[in-house]
Amino acid sequence: MIFHMGTAKAPISYCNIGSQFQIADAPKSPARRAFPCRPLTQMEIGGLDSDGRMFRNADEMWREQVGVGDPQKKSQWYNKGINYWEGVEATVDGVLGGYGHVNAPDIKASEDFLNTILAERFPDAGRGHHLVALDCGSGIGRVTKNLLIRYFNEVDLLEPVSHFLESARVNLAPENLMVSDLHKAANFYCVPLQEFTPDAERYDVIWVQWCIGHLADDDFIAFFKRAKVGLKPGGLFVLKENIARTGFVLDKEDKSITRSDSYFKELFNQCGLYIYKMKDQKEFPDELFAVKMYALTTEMPRQGNRPRLKRTTNRPAIIR
Ligand SMILES: C[S@@+](CC[C@H](N)C(=O)[O-])C[C@H]1O[C@@H](n2cnc3c(N)ncnc32)[C@H](O)[C@@H]1O
Repeated sequence: MIFHMGTAKAPISYCNIGSQFQIADAPKSPARRAFPCRPLTQMEIGGLDSDGRMFRNADEMWREQVGVGDPQKKSQWYNKGINYWEGVEATVDGVLGGYGHVNAPDIKASEDFLNTILAERFPDAGRGHHLVALDCGSGIGRVTKNLLIRYFNEVDLLEPVSHFLESARVNLAPENLMVSDLHKAANFYCVPLQEFTPDAERYDVIWVQWCIGHLADDDFIAFFKRAKVGLKPGGLFVLKENIARTGFVLDKEDKSITRSDSYFKELFNQCGLYIYKMKDQKEFPDELFAVKMYALTTEMPRQGNRPRLKRTTNRPAIIR
C-alpha cells in the first residue's frame, strides 16, 4: 500500500495496522481498576501509534509527546508537524496525502452540509447578509476555492506553512476564480491555530478541516475558547475530521492524532461547544478512516434541534 499509516495524512488509511487494531484489548487504565463502576472517559481509553504501539491512555501519550508544562518539548511537536508539511508539494494530491481523488466527494458532502446549515442559520444570506468565513489549516486553499468562496463574501485563510499559503494566494487571486467580485479571499494569515486569535465577531463560519489533529488537547480547547469571540452572533464552527474507531491513533511522522467521535465530544464539552448538527462523510475509499462533519455552536441547541442520541442502553431491546 502506498499510503502507510506512518506517513498518513488526512485522509488516513489504517489498513496496514489492521489486525493490531484491537482496541478492545487495550490495557485498562489504573483509574478503571480502582473504580470499576465509573465509566471510562475517552482520554482514559487506550490508543495506538502508527507503528502499532499501544498507549494505556491519552494522558500517557501526551506526556510522552509534548511533556507536561514543557514549552520546548511542545514546540518540538509543533515544529515537526510544520516540517512535515514543508516537505509536501503544494497540490491537491499533496494536501490530501496522495488521495487527491477524494476531493470531489469531500467537497460534495461538505457543500450539502453547509447548505443545510446556511438555510437554517442564515436564511437571508445573499439578501443583504454579508457572509464571512475563516478556513483554518487551509493548506493551498482547496476548501476555500472549491466551496467556501462560492457561499461567503469574504474568506480568510489561516495556514502555518508558507509555501501552501503562497500557493493559496495564487489559486485564489481574482483572475483564477470563477466567482463574482462580491466574493473574495480577504486575509492570509501564516500562523498556526495554537497561536491564533480572531478579530471579534468577524465570522459567520469558522471551518476547521483536517488540521485539528495537530493540536494537543489543551491547545485544542484553548483554540476553540479563543476562537468563539471571532464568531458573529449565530455563527458556528464546522469541524471536519478523520475519526478513530476508539481512543486515538498517533501519527508519529507528522505529529498529529486521530481522535474517536467520543474523544471529540469530550473535548467539545470542555470547550463549551454544542453539536448543532453532525453528518458522516460518504463515498470515501474503504481503507480510509471514517470522516465526520460537526457543526458546533456556543449556545445550547433548542430541544427540537438537538441531534437525537442513539438510545442503546436502559431500555428494552431485541437481542439479535
Ligand atoms: C491534510 S492538510 C489539509 C489542508 C486543508 N484543510 C484541506 O482540507 O485541503 C493539513 C493542513 O494542516 C496544516 N497544519 C499543520 N499544523 C498546523 C497547525 N498547528 N495549525 C494549523 N494548521 C496546521 C498543514 O500545514 C496542512 O496545510
